[in-house]
Amino acid sequence: MKIAIIHGQNHQGSTYHIAHNLAEEIGGQITEFFLPRDFDTFCVGCTTCFTKGETKCPHYEMLSPITAAIDEADLIILSSPVYVYHATGAMKAMLDHYGYQWMAHRPKAVMFSKQAVCVTTAAGAGMESTIKDMADSLFFWGVAKQYKLGFTISATSWDEIKPKKKQTIEHRIKSLAAKIRRRNGKVKPGFKTRAFFWLMHLMQRNGWNEADVRYWKELGWTGSNRPWKKKNKD
Ligand SMILES: Cc1cc2nc3c(=O)[nH]c(=O)nc-3n(C[C@H](O)[C@H](O)[C@H](O)COP(=O)(O)O)c2cc1C
Repeated sequence: MKIAIIHGQNHQGSTYHIAHNLAEEIGGQITEFFLPRDFDTFCVGCTTCFTKGETKCPHYEMLSPITAAIDEADLIILSSPVYVYHATGAMKAMLDHYGYQWMAHRPKAVMFSKQAVCVTTAAGAGMESTIKDMADSLFFWGVAKQYKLGFTISATSWDEIKPKKKQTIEHRIKSLAAKIRRRNGKVKPGFKTRAFFWLMHLMQRNGWNEADVRYWKELGWTGSNRPWKKKNKD
């Protein structure tokens, strides 16, 4: 199994260990990125990705190793500690660059057969909103199956976490890893994703953005073809 982990922080603290240990437990080919070390640039708001194509984004080349790893992965892991109730700025800055591949624009067919996990840790509170910051992108990219792995650790570092808490973390990692391994290659998008895609297919029939309309038409998605069906070109 190919696994891409995007860590929303450079350091190897609690969140890193949980995300990394999950990937190790699953096994396979793991590719890891650390933000901002591996991508430190903010979206400039030019909207070129939407209107002219993502390859015209001024940061396209810089982001391409991360994009390739995400596209090739069977499993995407997005991980971020809770920073003031949200994902880190570095994680958000990266996700902003993928607005063009939301279902409202040009989702990639490969997303509809992937699994993904959002990992977070908080000293006390803010896990739900932090996970949502990452999960929203995964949903709107069309990722077929998502899991949440969040822990309130009552600590500020991995070494400070109490042994009993670590046992709980290890147990949840093992059980999630088994589930993900079992489902690899077999997942299909659920009702919510298919329903949203259906709405978008109606919108694209009379779409306002030429680049999106062309893309949907070429893939047959404005008709009856769907990205989770086998005949897609992408
Ligand atoms: C800038 C900053 C903001 C934080 N904000 C929160 C917060 O809103 N809620 C919370 O419970 N913990 C907060 N924390 C604590 C971390 O989320 C917590 O210690 C987390 O487990 C750290 O993970 P790490 O070891 O991977 O860095 C914050 C820490 C930092 C550095």
